[in-house]
Amino acid sequence: MGFVMITVDDTTAWSYWLNGLMIDASYQGKGYGKATIESVIRYIKENYYNSRCLNLTVCADNGAARKLYEKLGFSETGEVYDDEIVYRFVF
Ligand SMILES: CC(C)(COP(=O)(O)OP(=O)(O)OC[C@H]1O[C@@H](n2cnc3c(N)ncnc32)[C@H](O)[C@@H]1OP(=O)(O)O)[C@@H](O)C(=O)NCCC(=O)NCCS
Repeated sequence: MGFVMITVDDTTAWSYWLNGLMIDASYQGKGYGKATIESVIRYIKENYYNSRCLNLTVCADNGAARKLYEKLGFSETGEVYDDEIVYRFVF
């Protein structure tokens, strides 16, 4: 039904990445993407006390994902990796 992957940048011990998020097409638009990201934020906060931020990259033309991330408090950093826009959530 869905997939999410998070990693820590172990050169810092405080910078986390949301590397992948997918909700099965037939389940999209029902709030699962939003609930998944909220769970990830809660999980990192509760388990990794040194965490300071959660980063991700998204294609510029992925309007649905960008809207979702912005609604949840992520902001563009101004950086671009492999043609994808970097967003950051600060704990
Ligand atoms: C992007 C994705 C994870 C969103 O998951 P979802 O379960 O469909 O999203 P939700 O139902 O939780 O929607 C939450 C918010 O996202 C936005 N959103 C979601 N789908 C949208 C769409 N098709 N168009 C515009 N906004 C959309 C809305 O702002 C929505 O808020 P609202 O309920 O107040 O209107 C999902 O569509 C997906 O898996 N897409 C394919 C893979 C992908 O693009 N992954 C992200 C790569 S960075």
